Amino acid sequence: MTEPISRWSAVETIGRGVRAAPALRAGFGLTLFLAMVGAGGRVVVPIVIQQAIDHGFRDGQVHIRTILVLAAFGISAVALATWAQRTAVYRLGRRSEEALYGLRASLFQHIHRMSIEDHNEERKGALVARVTSDVETLAQFFQWGGIAWLLDSTLMLLVAGVMLAYDWVLALVAFVVAAPLAIVLRMVQGHLVKAYDQARQSNAEVMTQLSELVSGAETLRAYDAGQHYTAKVKEVSHQRSNSFIRAGTIGAFLFPSGEVFNVLTVSAVVCVGVLRGPASGLTAGAMVGFVFLTQRFLEPIAEFTEVLDMTQTAVAGMRRVLGVLEIPIGPPEPDMPLTLPAGPLTVTADRVDFSYRSRGEDDEPPVLIDVNLHIPAGQQVAVVGETGSGKTTLGRIIARMADPSAGSIALGGVPLTRVANADLRTRLTVVPQEPFLFEGSIAANLLFARPGLTEADLLAAIDTLDLRDWLDALPDGLATQVGQRGTQLSAGERQLVALIRASLVDPDVLVLDEATSSVDALTEVRIAHALERLAEGRTTIAIAHRLSTAARADRVLVLDHGRLVEDGTHDELLRSDGTYRRMYDAWVAATSS
Ligand SMILES: Nc1ncnc2c1ncn2[C@@H]1O[C@H](COP(=O)(O)OP(=O)(O)OP(=O)(O)O)[C@@H](O)[C@H]1O
Ligand SMILES: [Mg+2]
Repeated sequence: MTEPISRWSAVETIGRGVRAAPALRAGFGLTLFLAMVGAGGRVVVPIVIQQAIDHGFRDGQVHIRTILVLAAFGISAVALATWAQRTAVYRLGRRSEEALYGLRASLFQHIHRMSIEDHNEERKGALVARVTSDVETLAQFFQWGGIAWLLDSTLMLLVAGVMLAYDWVLALVAFVVAAPLAIVLRMVQGHLVKAYDQARQSNAEVMTQLSELVSGAETLRAYDAGQHYTAKVKEVSHQRSNSFIRAGTIGAFLFPSGEVFNVLTVSAVVCVGVLRGPASGLTAGAMVGFVFLTQRFLEPIAEFTEVLDMTQTAVAGMRRVLGVLEIPIGPPEPDMPLTLPAGPLTVTADRVDFSYRSRGEDDEPPVLIDVNLHIPAGQQVAVVGETGSGKTTLGRIIARMADPSAGSIALGGVPLTRVANADLRTRLTVVPQEPFLFEGSIAANLLFARPGLTEADLLAAIDTLDLRDWLDALPDGLATQVGQRGTQLSAGERQLVALIRASLVDPDVLVLDEATSSVDALTEVRIAHALERLAEGRTTIAIAHRLSTAARADRVLVLDHGRLVEDGTHDELLRSDGTYRRMYDAWVAATSS
């Protein structure tokens, strides 16, 4: 699989991330302004206290008017600042939700559209899982980290500025004593993050083990192996609680260490201030105000170190998310599409080579080698070959789920690369080897191919394929629930549903990948019969695992290690005494025994 791009720096990654999520940028200027107003309000209180002490209590008298005016000013400033800060937080939160929504949507769409050359279904599944957790870390960051960066840094800068303006000597004392706090917190934080990572990992481990224990219950009971697996679950559970305790212990250390530094810094400021005495020009009010400012300055440090870690995680997540978005998506739409001719279509392959790019090796083995083929319109062709010989792959290439590495495929004389995707999907349909059914009724699984159809249309299609007796034998007919991934139906029945679904599209070319899994005799007859009905008047390429299907076809193609080695009618190939003959003899021997 194409690995996420790691060469970008943090700043570059954030830049690209913001470009990928334009919602983040909208109205950011106003949000920043509001955040600054909010931070400004927190500086007002120390200043008001200083003013009240220095001017409210002058010459041994209380100047109540001055104090009242200052109090009114302080209250209004704090009210305004609170409003501004809440608005900024709200705006940022809303924007980041919008941005994340957009990011999720484009990620899933991208993964969905990725060509099968890059990702088969399981890999896509893993990718979706990974990307989901990456987006989760981004969400956490946006909801809290981004806001903290904004508010804390404005607050710290503003407070530091006011402190320097009041008394630069005291300000420097405060900065120098507080510096170790940042370093210590950073170190502890590093351990804490690691401990929490481990805790999360062991949590996931417990979940995996438990779900295996539950879903594998039948197998475990059959072999009486429950003891062994229960012991394993116990062990990982133990590890899990240990790692959570460890994380908790480190976290408990973090909080008091912040307090200790707070006390130390404030004491240093007070000591130095008192020692310098009134000669330094520092008033009593300024001294008290300064102590408040120092505390305001220290508050964000603890939060900052935490946010820094969160930022690192978020940048890593963003990098991976962007990496996924960078993976090119397969078969591109043609710039100037050509329309396919009406009626049954010919299928031609001209010197087609193909190899999957997804294996991550430098020289991927070719899966199809120099395949040349011309199928006249309306012909019934069967493709046979050993497992892994490339049959399914040939079907995928013909259906343009991926483009050949070399050579070309044409439908009705039009190269596939010039056919619009929408046109192709209505003219060619694939019934895959393992058709996917969605949880729901049979009707729902049929209707998504052609959403406008009525129940009568569905029944008519089922009648055409002579499958009415099968449907009537089901508990609820069309309303029968298929279960998750269609597991309530047998493999053969799933293939039947897929055949009906294909018939609703009414394509001119049909690619059918026969189920490998064994199908009971009755269903097999039904599939064969339905396929015959469905194939009438269409160009059909049936990938045959049962050579009875091949025997009925107009023509048989034999694939061997990606090469087309034999091409002729069933009788011709039997006479020619080659690969097909050997396969057929083996099949007859196996089925008749
Ligand atoms: N998505 C994929 N990514 C990478 N390699 C793949 C992928 N799908 C198939 N292959 C490989 O390509 C080769 C041909 O596979 P293909 O599925 O076309 O064979 P097949 O003839 O359909 O086999 P079967 O009879 O078992 O269905 C095999 O070596 C297989 O491992
Ligand atoms: Mg196959």
